[in-house]
Amino acid sequence: MDASSAAASLRLRKVVRQRLESLHRAGVTHLVLPEAAASAAAPRPGEAAASAPVEREVAPAPAPPSAGEDRVAALRVLQQEVAACTRCAALAGSRTQTVFGVGNPNPRVVFMGEAPGFDEDKKGEPFVGAAGQLLTKIIENGMGLKRDDVYILNTLKCRPPNNRNPAPDEVENCRGFFEQQLDILRPEYIVCLGAVAAQNLLQTKLSVGKMRGRFLDYRGVKVLVTYHPAYLLRAPEEKRKTWEDIQFLMRDMGLMSDAERS
Ligand code: URA
Ligand code: URA
Repeated sequence: MDASSAAASLRLRKVVRQRLESLHRAGVTHLVLPEAAASAAAPRPGEAAASAPVEREVAPAPAPPSAGEDRVAALRVLQQEVAACTRCAALAGSRTQTVFGVGNPNPRVVFMGEAPGFDEDKKGEPFVGAAGQLLTKIIENGMGLKRDDVYILNTLKCRPPNNRNPAPDEVENCRGFFEQQLDILRPEYIVCLGAVAAQNLLQTKLSVGKMRGRFLDYRGVKVLVTYHPAYLLRAPEEKRKTWEDIQFLMRDMGLMSDAERS
């Protein structure tokens, strides 16, 4: 193995070990790893297996990884943890599957929604129904990016029955998941789509109308709050305001020309 792939392998092993340590601290004792992450975590001869609960070297909270492959590995481990979660017994019983998130593991911008709906629960991917099609239009036609350039996730990873709003205890059960996901992704910007994402990420009761049109802060990341695309489908007269918010974001990202700025 050459020096750089040895270093990459070490980093990967460190990320996986950190995730396992965090799981262990959270009381998880059994975890089925996906094959790639399992092989990344496989011990060398003579080393203890990393997939067993780790008792040694419990380090202080580590800086999140930055290299692309580290993020992919860390996201994959977190995704497995989400898929095995049954903390909200009712949601775990009614879901088809958990809906983790999708997109670029090294994104400039993350879009954060509320919870999976019918289509997302069936497909296992966020924002694939009618609201998702509007979000894709905002990203692709509005911002000139590809859906794959950004990362899309929800506050809750399970569909609430009949698309009711997430209950506060459900959000708290899922908080560790979306916070860790954002820690791994370390975007420059988080766009909160609607009140559920915004209020729970920022832990405030302010309305979308009060929060939109400027950047707020989440652990040093610029947060833009705007209307949820499902709301825009019901209230198309509000689309103009979301388009203003998106243009505000694009100016800050340097995605708009001087001509477009004026
Ligand atoms: N609404 C959301 O908030 N998230 C989805 O994934 C789909 C619809
Ligand atoms: N592009 C639009 O046309 N409308 C929006 O709301 C956002 C981007």
